[in-house]
Amino acid sequence: MIQLITLKNVSKIYGEERTTIKALDGINLEIEEGKIITVMGPSGSGKSTLLNILGAMDKPTSGEVLVNNIEIGSLPERKLSNYRKSQVGFIFQNFYLLPNLNVIENVLVPIVPFGISEKDRIKAQELLEIVGLGDRANTKVSKLSGGESQRVAVARALINEPKLILADEPTGNLDSETGKSIVELLINLAESGKTLIIVTHDPRVVSLVANHPLGESIWIKDGKLSDQPTYDLNCW
Ligand SMILES: Nc1ncnc2c1ncn2[C@@H]1O[C@H](COP(=O)(O)OP(=O)(O)OP(=O)(O)O)[C@@H](O)[C@H]1O
Ligand SMILES: [Mg+2]
Repeated sequence: MIQLITLKNVSKIYGEERTTIKALDGINLEIEEGKIITVMGPSGSGKSTLLNILGAMDKPTSGEVLVNNIEIGSLPERKLSNYRKSQVGFIFQNFYLLPNLNVIENVLVPIVPFGISEKDRIKAQELLEIVGLGDRANTKVSKLSGGESQRVAVARALINEPKLILADEPTGNLDSETGKSIVELLINLAESGKTLIIVTHDPRVVSLVANHPLGESIWIKDGKLSDQPTYDLNCW
């Protein structure tokens, strides 16, 4: 397997002197290409911070982030933004769709800085077919259900043909059936060669991934990687 990402002693500290928060504390991690990885841990443990750093949306305070053996922390902003645009697809918990645009316009949003071509429109339509929204391209997203909105967000994350898909609680706002279909959709993408990292609180997502041949789980606590906790995740 090819190594896609390596984190070396990565820490992220927020705040000023007396009120600092160590969101990540010396993380060492290797992620192979094509894997499906779930990241679990309590609220505030650093999961979103980790995802943001992997997607170059944020920089570590110290340590190295290597993607394809390139230390992305040392890249100039122009190259970083190129990395984000060309290699990373981000799926957010609360979709972040633009409510006044229709479905296909939302899928095309990441392309706007480059200028949208007819080829892009065809591609967006194809992605909508894949996520099961082929007949909703012209619907305003404010009229969609939560599950449909998340499908639009998945299509949008794929429009740049990213190698790496980062999903921050993609099922957090969905009922259990809809959540399952989104996770299955994401797993299908990983099976077609993409690397998938899913932050989740949902033990069903973790068990689905854990039973997959490409699956792997990461646990994080107080900004550090930890062993799988012994407490029952299904209980309060
Ligand atoms: N921009 C920020 N400024 C200051 N502190 C922050 C910032 N972002 C996150 N933090 C803090 O860093 C810690 C880790 O936050 P993070 O969002 O990574 O947690 P999380 O594991 O994603 O939690 P949740 O499950 O609630 O989404 C928390 O204590 C949080 O308050
Ligand atoms: Mg979070």
